[in-house]
Amino acid sequence: MKRHAFSQLDAMRWAVLISGTGSNLQAVLDLGAAARVVLVVSSKSSAVGLKRAKRAGIPTLVLDKQIDWTDLTVQLKARGVQAIALCGFMRIVPPEFLTHWEGAIINIHPSLLPAYPGLNSLQRAFDDHAPIGATIHEVIEGVDEGPALIQKAVPRQTTIQQTEFKLHLVEHQILREVIQRWKPAPMSS
Ligand code: GRF
Repeated sequence: MKRHAFSQLDAMRWAVLISGTGSNLQAVLDLGAAARVVLVVSSKSSAVGLKRAKRAGIPTLVLDKQIDWTDLTVQLKARGVQAIALCGFMRIVPPEFLTHWEGAIINIHPSLLPAYPGLNSLQRAFDDHAPIGATIHEVIEGVDEGPALIQKAVPRQTTIQQTEFKLHLVEHQILREVIQRWKPAPMSS
Protein backbone atom coordinates (compact mmCIF):
# COMPACT_ATOMS: atom_id res chain seq x y z
CA MET A 1 0.00 0.00 0.00
CA LYS A 2 1.41 3.37 -1.03
CA ARG A 3 1.37 6.12 1.58
CA HIS A 4 1.12 9.84 1.08
CA ALA A 5 4.08 11.46 2.75
CA PHE A 6 3.86 15.03 3.94
CA SER A 7 5.70 17.14 6.39
CA GLN A 8 3.91 18.06 9.61
CA LEU A 9 5.30 21.55 9.08
CA ASP A 10 3.35 22.04 5.87
CA ALA A 11 -0.32 22.87 5.93
CA MET A 12 -2.30 19.96 4.62
CA ARG A 13 -3.45 20.11 1.02
CA TRP A 14 -7.24 20.18 0.96
CA ALA A 15 -9.81 19.87 -1.77
CA VAL A 16 -13.17 21.39 -0.88
CA LEU A 17 -16.26 20.07 -2.63
CA ILE A 18 -19.27 22.38 -2.81
CA SER A 19 -22.61 22.86 -4.56
CA GLY A 20 -23.82 26.24 -3.39
CA THR A 21 -23.04 29.36 -1.42
CA GLY A 22 -19.70 28.19 -0.13
CA SER A 23 -19.79 30.04 3.17
CA ASN A 24 -18.01 27.06 4.74
CA LEU A 25 -15.45 27.17 1.95
CA GLN A 26 -14.94 30.84 2.77
CA ALA A 27 -14.38 29.97 6.43
CA VAL A 28 -11.59 27.63 5.34
CA LEU A 29 -10.12 30.17 2.91
CA ASP A 30 -10.11 32.73 5.70
CA LEU A 31 -7.65 30.51 7.59
CA GLY A 32 -5.05 31.58 5.05
CA ALA A 33 -1.79 29.67 5.34
CA ALA A 34 -3.16 27.38 8.07
CA ALA A 35 -5.17 25.52 5.46
CA ARG A 36 -3.99 25.02 1.95
CA VAL A 37 -6.96 24.64 -0.37
CA VAL A 38 -5.50 23.45 -3.67
CA LEU A 39 -8.74 22.72 -5.50
CA VAL A 40 -12.44 23.58 -5.24
CA VAL A 41 -14.82 21.19 -6.95
CA SER A 42 -18.43 22.15 -7.56
CA SER A 43 -21.33 20.02 -8.72
CA LYS A 44 -23.02 23.21 -9.98
CA SER A 45 -21.61 25.74 -12.41
CA SER A 46 -23.73 28.46 -10.78
CA ALA A 47 -22.40 27.86 -7.26
CA VAL A 48 -21.49 31.15 -5.57
CA GLY A 49 -18.66 29.28 -3.88
CA LEU A 50 -16.88 29.13 -7.24
CA LYS A 51 -16.61 32.91 -7.22
CA ARG A 52 -15.12 32.77 -3.74
CA ALA A 53 -12.53 30.27 -4.95
CA LYS A 54 -11.65 32.35 -7.98
CA ARG A 55 -11.33 35.47 -5.86
CA ALA A 56 -8.86 33.59 -3.67
CA GLY A 57 -6.95 32.33 -6.71
CA ILE A 58 -7.84 28.68 -6.08
CA PRO A 59 -8.22 26.40 -9.11
CA THR A 60 -11.77 25.13 -9.66
CA LEU A 61 -13.35 22.16 -11.31
CA VAL A 62 -17.05 22.02 -12.26
CA LEU A 63 -18.61 18.57 -12.44
CA ASP A 64 -22.23 19.37 -13.18
CA LYS A 65 -22.95 16.31 -15.29
CA GLN A 66 -22.41 12.71 -14.36
CA ILE A 67 -19.29 12.54 -12.22
CA ASP A 68 -16.44 10.28 -13.29
CA TRP A 69 -15.25 9.46 -9.78
CA THR A 70 -12.18 7.59 -10.98
CA ASP A 71 -11.07 10.60 -12.97
CA LEU A 72 -11.79 12.87 -10.01
CA THR A 73 -9.45 10.78 -7.86
CA VAL A 74 -6.79 11.07 -10.58
CA GLN A 75 -7.21 14.85 -10.64
CA LEU A 76 -7.12 15.17 -6.86
CA LYS A 77 -4.01 13.04 -6.58
CA ALA A 78 -2.33 14.94 -9.42
CA ARG A 79 -2.71 18.06 -7.28
CA GLY A 80 -1.31 16.34 -4.22
CA VAL A 81 -4.60 16.50 -2.31
CA GLN A 82 -4.28 14.89 1.11
CA ALA A 83 -7.74 15.52 2.52
CA ILE A 84 -11.19 16.33 1.21
CA ALA A 85 -13.92 18.42 2.86
CA LEU A 86 -17.49 18.05 1.64
CA CYS A 87 -19.06 21.44 2.36
CA GLY A 88 -22.63 21.28 1.15
CA PHE A 89 -21.71 18.95 -1.71
CA MET A 90 -25.05 17.62 -2.98
CA ARG A 91 -23.87 14.33 -4.44
CA ILE A 92 -23.65 10.93 -2.83
CA VAL A 93 -20.04 9.85 -2.76
CA PRO A 94 -19.83 6.30 -4.11
CA PRO A 95 -17.94 3.43 -2.47
CA GLU A 96 -15.34 3.27 -5.26
CA PHE A 97 -14.33 6.85 -4.47
CA LEU A 98 -14.17 6.07 -0.76
CA THR A 99 -11.83 3.17 -1.49
CA HIS A 100 -9.23 5.83 -2.21
CA TRP A 101 -10.25 8.48 0.29
CA GLU A 102 -11.84 6.88 3.34
CA GLY A 103 -10.10 8.22 6.42
CA ALA A 104 -9.20 11.40 4.56
CA ILE A 105 -12.64 12.80 3.79
CA ILE A 106 -14.95 14.77 6.04
CA ASN A 107 -18.47 16.14 5.73
CA ILE A 108 -20.26 18.96 7.47
CA HIS A 109 -23.88 18.31 8.33
CA PRO A 110 -26.44 20.69 9.86
CA SER A 111 -27.72 18.45 12.65
CA LEU A 112 -26.52 16.67 15.73
CA LEU A 113 -25.97 13.34 13.99
CA PRO A 114 -27.11 10.60 14.18
CA ALA A 115 -30.28 12.67 14.50
CA TYR A 116 -31.67 14.04 11.25
CA PRO A 117 -29.40 12.67 8.53
CA GLY A 118 -30.28 13.49 4.91
CA LEU A 119 -32.01 16.56 3.55
CA ASN A 120 -33.83 19.43 5.30
CA SER A 121 -32.24 18.52 8.62
CA LEU A 122 -32.54 21.93 10.22
CA GLN A 123 -36.17 22.33 9.17
CA ARG A 124 -37.07 18.92 10.57
CA ALA A 125 -35.25 19.46 13.87
CA PHE A 126 -36.77 22.93 14.20
CA ASP A 127 -40.28 21.64 13.50
CA ASP A 128 -39.82 18.85 16.06
CA HIS A 129 -38.48 21.25 18.71
CA ALA A 130 -35.48 18.90 18.86
CA PRO A 131 -31.91 19.92 19.73
CA ILE A 132 -30.23 21.79 16.88
CA GLY A 133 -26.57 21.82 15.91
CA ALA A 134 -23.87 20.85 13.47
CA THR A 135 -21.60 17.85 13.07
CA ILE A 136 -18.39 17.25 11.20
CA HIS A 137 -17.80 13.59 10.60
CA GLU A 138 -15.60 11.29 8.63
CA VAL A 139 -17.30 10.03 5.50
CA ILE A 140 -18.02 6.36 5.11
CA GLU A 141 -20.54 4.58 2.91
CA GLY A 142 -24.09 5.63 3.81
CA VAL A 143 -25.81 9.00 3.96
CA ASP A 144 -24.30 11.21 6.69
CA GLU A 145 -22.75 8.22 8.43
CA GLY A 146 -19.23 7.92 9.82
CA PRO A 147 -17.52 8.83 13.10
CA ALA A 148 -18.18 12.32 14.38
CA LEU A 149 -15.07 14.47 14.81
CA ILE A 150 -16.84 17.37 16.45
CA GLN A 151 -20.40 18.45 17.23
CA LYS A 152 -21.79 21.65 18.57
CA ALA A 153 -25.29 22.56 19.60
CA VAL A 154 -26.93 25.82 18.54
CA PRO A 155 -29.50 27.53 20.74
CA ARG A 156 -32.91 27.62 19.09
CA GLN A 157 -33.89 31.13 18.02
CA THR A 158 -37.35 32.57 17.47
CA THR A 159 -37.42 31.91 13.74
CA ILE A 160 -35.80 29.27 11.59
CA GLN A 161 -33.95 31.98 9.66
CA GLN A 162 -32.36 33.32 12.83
CA THR A 163 -31.50 29.77 13.89
CA GLU A 164 -29.96 29.03 10.50
CA PHE A 165 -27.81 32.13 10.76
CA LYS A 166 -26.42 30.96 14.12
CA LEU A 167 -26.04 27.42 12.78
CA HIS A 168 -23.86 28.63 9.92
CA LEU A 169 -21.61 30.52 12.32
CA VAL A 170 -21.18 27.36 14.37
CA GLU A 171 -20.49 25.32 11.23
CA HIS A 172 -17.75 27.72 10.23
CA GLN A 173 -16.22 27.63 13.69
CA ILE A 174 -16.10 23.83 14.04
CA LEU A 175 -14.96 23.38 10.45
CA ARG A 176 -12.01 25.68 11.06
CA GLU A 177 -11.15 23.70 14.19
CA VAL A 178 -11.18 20.38 12.35
CA ILE A 179 -9.30 21.70 9.34
CA GLN A 180 -6.51 22.94 11.58
CA ARG A 181 -6.07 19.93 13.83
CA TRP A 182 -7.36 16.83 12.08
CA LYS A 183 -4.88 14.48 10.48
CA PRO A 184 -6.23 12.07 7.90
CA ALA A 185 -5.44 8.40 7.93
CA PRO A 186 -2.74 7.30 5.48
CA MET A 187 -4.31 6.66 2.11
CA SER A 188 -4.08 3.85 -0.36
CA SER A 189 -2.86 4.73 -3.83
C1 GRF B 1 -24.27 23.84 5.23
O1 GRF B 1 -25.35 24.18 6.03
C2 GRF B 1 -23.86 22.42 5.47
O2 GRF B 1 -24.10 21.98 6.76
C3 GRF B 1 -24.73 21.67 4.51
O3 GRF B 1 -24.82 22.49 3.38
C4 GRF B 1 -24.66 23.84 3.76
C5 GRF B 1 -23.61 24.44 2.89
O4 GRF B 1 -23.54 25.83 3.06
N1 GRF B 1 -24.19 20.36 4.26
P1 GRF B 1 -22.41 26.67 2.36
O5 GRF B 1 -22.47 26.37 0.87
O6 GRF B 1 -21.08 26.24 2.93
O7 GRF B 1 -22.73 28.10 2.65
